[in-house]
Amino acid sequence: MDFYDELAPLYHLIFANWSDSIQRQGEQLDRVVQSEWPGHRTVLDVSCGIGTQTLALAGRGYTVVGSDLSAEAIERARREAALRGLAVEFTVGDMRTAHQAHGTGYDLVISCDNSVPHLLTDADLLLAFQQFFACLRPGGGCVVTVRDYDKEERGTNLVKHYGARVENGKRHVPFQVWDFKGEHYDLSFFVVEEDLATGNVKTHAMRSRYYAVSVARLCELMRDAGFENVKRLDDAFYQSVLVGTKPASA
Ligand SMILES: C[S@@+](CC[C@H](N)C(=O)[O-])C[C@H]1O[C@@H](n2cnc3c(N)ncnc32)[C@H](O)[C@@H]1O
Repeated sequence: MDFYDELAPLYHLIFANWSDSIQRQGEQLDRVVQSEWPGHRTVLDVSCGIGTQTLALAGRGYTVVGSDLSAEAIERARREAALRGLAVEFTVGDMRTAHQAHGTGYDLVISCDNSVPHLLTDADLLLAFQQFFACLRPGGGCVVTVRDYDKEERGTNLVKHYGARVENGKRHVPFQVWDFKGEHYDLSFFVVEEDLATGNVKTHAMRSRYYAVSVARLCELMRDAGFENVKRLDDAFYQSVLVGTKPASA
């Protein structure tokens, strides 16, 4: 996907310190997984991007396969895993065809950091959840983390700041601008890059569309896909966490 291909080299700048975020997200996800499904260790991350959760879980001893639609993000995730000495299998692919690509038998399927709202219709979300379900072994668990859009303002020209990050002699100021159209919004992601030695400034601009789908609707769609014990956990992670289990008899 073009947006994330362009964003791949800059993606870590969303975080004040990406390594710290990897560490923290790993602790939090591990806690969720081990309290919901003790002993589960094999993971398919269907929207791994540059690898925030994949690297986190692999670093904690999980066996992880990372997949994403963006070839550039997967390329970077491969490099980041190698840098950390982590053995992770990575592939480029669409979460809506995860079962065809990855088969079944996983203890866990995860899709974190608001990836599923890139699917713009309920039909596509249901298809993706059906694919996650098919990838799991009976008793396997699904973890999806998303923004809670019920708490987000609707409108146009909405600016979301991340602050400024200094790295390798450059100051980066990333921010998003949102323009809602009904239940969808167009997102422009800008990164202003200032060379601190020369004062030269460059602006990166990337655009994408999201479906501001509610957590309640996502839970319904997970149930429609066959998951049981679907629930939202609001204090486990920096986003809402949705968990569901494939019935042991399925
Ligand atoms: C906000 S990023 C999160 C990436 C990663 N989970 C992280 O936190 O670093 C969303 C990711 O979803 C991926 N994505 C969007 N639509 C997808 C699809 N249909 N199938 C697989 N990945 C998709 C994007 O390429 C992007 O890497």
